[in-house]
Amino acid sequence: MKINPNQNLSNIDEQTSHSRNIGSMFSQIAKYYDLMNSLMSFGKHHSWRKKLIDLILPFSQDPSLDIGMGTGDMIIEILQHSPTQTIVGVDISKKMIEEAKKKIPSTSNSDIVLLLSDAHTLPFQNNFFGLITITFGIRNFHSPGLALNEFNRVLKPGGKIAILEIFKSDKLNVTNFLFQIYFKLFPPILGKLVAKNQKAYKYLPRSVDKFTTVNQLSDQIKNAGLQIIDTQATLFNHVNIIVAKKPN
Ligand SMILES: C[S@@+](CC[C@H](N)C(=O)[O-])C[C@H]1O[C@@H](n2cnc3c(N)ncnc32)[C@H](O)[C@@H]1O
Repeated sequence: MKINPNQNLSNIDEQTSHSRNIGSMFSQIAKYYDLMNSLMSFGKHHSWRKKLIDLILPFSQDPSLDIGMGTGDMIIEILQHSPTQTIVGVDISKKMIEEAKKKIPSTSNSDIVLLLSDAHTLPFQNNFFGLITITFGIRNFHSPGLALNEFNRVLKPGGKIAILEIFKSDKLNVTNFLFQIYFKLFPPILGKLVAKNQKAYKYLPRSVDKFTTVNQLSDQIKNAGLQIIDTQATLFNHVNIIVAKKPN
């Protein structure tokens, strides 16, 4: 396994202040990120990544790219299904990359490269990857539309992109109302008690509020030139997986 978290730092100088601020916020909570995820989702977040895998099988022989990889859970999930897969992970937070390095099994037979990079300006050639995954990442990007164009650029024709994300719902019903209350109150309280960072976990529900609906993101995916081939909703339609393909 090759891990090189310090490769390609150059484009970080040009990143926007938004990406820089987001990176520094995630660096502050990196040590508590996994525990907080498990507490907030009652352990469900692993099953959502597994669902994403079910929707993208079989794996392409071409390298995979995991964007906003955080502590590496999606990469670990991919390796469990495709142990020889070459995977590149990128993230804007150096501390998240350090946590990922600790977790990704050193016995892996595949090539793993972890890079500090901004999702909006990826340091890869055109038409390179067979699969791109982004789990709970795209909501944090300052321009999801720009990033989607960039993902289309580095994806091979016929390659797939799979997005797992939390969305707000535009439906007014009791379940949504209760979810809103839970989501606005519980993460900030837990964030204060566990991660000692209430601000970062107040940002979480706000980022969902400010983000698009699943239909709006689907439109942006199509506008970037990708074809949607599958979608799946869970957690009262708040967590969605969208799988798209770059046309041949
Ligand atoms: C909520 S975490 C998700 C981590 C992981 N994918 C998971 O499933 O748990 C979002 C990650 O996206 C990263 N991120 C946010 N904006 C980014 C950007 N513009 N470019 C690259 N990574 C970014 C953050 O640093 C953070 O590690």
